[in-house]
Amino acid sequence: MDAKKLIYNLLCFLLVLCSFIYPCLSELCHPQDKKALLQIKKGFNNPHVFSTWDPNTDCCLHWRGVHCDEKNNRIETLEKYFGGGDLAGPIPPEIGDLPYLRTLWWHKQPNLTGPIPQSITKLKRLRYLVITWANLSGPIPDFLSEIKSLVSIEFSFNNLTGQIPSSLSRLPNLTGLVLDRNKLTGPIPDSFGEFQGSHFYLKLSHNQLSWKIPASLGNKDFNYVDLSWNKLEGGAAVLFGLNKTTQVVDLSRNVLEFDMSDVEFPKSLVSLDMNHNRITGSLPVGMTALDNLRGFNVSYNRLCGEIPVGGNLQSFDYTAYFHNRCLCGAPLERSCK
Ligand SMILES: *[C@@H]1O[C@H](CO)[C@@H](O)[C@H](O)[C@H]1NC(C)=O
Ligand SMILES: *[C@@H]1O[C@H](CO)[C@@H](O)[C@H](O)[C@H]1NC(C)=O
Ligand SMILES: *[C@@H]1O[C@H](CO)[C@@H](O)[C@H](O)[C@H]1NC(C)=O
Ligand SMILES: *[C@@H]1O[C@H](CO)[C@@H](O)[C@H](O)[C@H]1NC(C)=O
Ligand SMILES: *[C@@H]1O[C@H](CO)[C@@H](O)[C@H](O)[C@H]1NC(C)=O
Ligand SMILES: *[C@@H]1O[C@H](CO)[C@@H](O)[C@H](O)[C@H]1NC(C)=O
Repeated sequence: MDAKKLIYNLLCFLLVLCSFIYPCLSELCHPQDKKALLQIKKGFNNPHVFSTWDPNTDCCLHWRGVHCDEKNNRIETLEKYFGGGDLAGPIPPEIGDLPYLRTLWWHKQPNLTGPIPQSITKLKRLRYLVITWANLSGPIPDFLSEIKSLVSIEFSFNNLTGQIPSSLSRLPNLTGLVLDRNKLTGPIPDSFGEFQGSHFYLKLSHNQLSWKIPASLGNKDFNYVDLSWNKLEGGAAVLFGLNKTTQVVDLSRNVLEFDMSDVEFPKSLVSLDMNHNRITGSLPVGMTALDNLRGFNVSYNRLCGEIPVGGNLQSFDYTAYFHNRCLCGAPLERSCK
């Protein structure tokens, strides 16, 4: 064989070899991820919305609602493109077989039912767990506290029942807990003053939470606290304090009963809503120093005395103050004499 022929044969051999290997090399999708995704599709009974999840195509390139990590091509995001609620039935347990998943984000899935599956504790890199406007039922499971990587948990508008597990405060990186509009009962856990994450966002509104706001919450400098539309009683002063940087507090529609006269509100407050409670005393003069306050409502309480003059307090509509026992002064029509 002369050299030319040898090179020719070698090239042919390489060409044949390449054409065999090429499809495998060119597929970015990790075979284990593909297998898990196909099982999830099957678990949901292969609805039409998964039609792009075709075993013959590359899940990183062609499957909708799926995103792969650019470095290792593992699935890092499952998201919400499913418009109009196409996921039906319980979450398939194979959701736990996507070890690189960082974001699970499903929104507006009214036919998504059943409990939060235990298998998600296998997702050791999961940061964002967001399943909102669905029909999940059962408790908020204790085992969520095993997913140490979690940064945000959101289950707004579901059908979750039972008490909020106190173990959630052990999630070291958690900075957002959003559980509004469920059927949660019992107290806010004492441990919730111990969250480590900063700029914490806590939204527990529209549930049936009862008891007092735990004193331990005073240790935490929340950025946002919405506890409205529950059955919370007793005081709320612990949420405030001059050394905090809290921006939004909504405590409206509870049965809170405390004297507001001596409460020290942080200068950072942008919005404060406490309407429909049983708050007594008068508005502290210090409130005139709240330069950032844009939203304010203390209507439907048992407050008395003069509305302090100054700051933004006269800029709010009179309905921010009406239906109290004996508040007086602008913007109310009743003068103090
Ligand atoms: C939910 O399921 C019901 C019954 O199968 C169906 O009629 C309805 O269209 C589904 N809703 C959505 C938003 O897919
Ligand atoms: C939500 O799920 C429950 C069963 O857990 C079912 O009875 C109910 O009809 C579902 N609601 C909607 C709006 O699909
Ligand atoms: C919650 O569950 C109850 C009973 O299972 C059901 O009747 C109701 O429709 C569900 N609510 C929503 C918002 O799906
Ligand atoms: C918490 O966040 C930090 C900074 O992003 C990260 O280095 C650390 O691994 C996270 N902890 C866990 C348990 O995921
Ligand atoms: C605010 O001061 C109180 C004591 O007055 C203290 O217990 C709390 O840790 C302080 N909070 C912050 C965020 O500095
Ligand atoms: C204050 O809350 C009451 C009760 O929900 C409402 O009627 C009123 O419009 C609110 N006013 C302002 C200024 O937010």
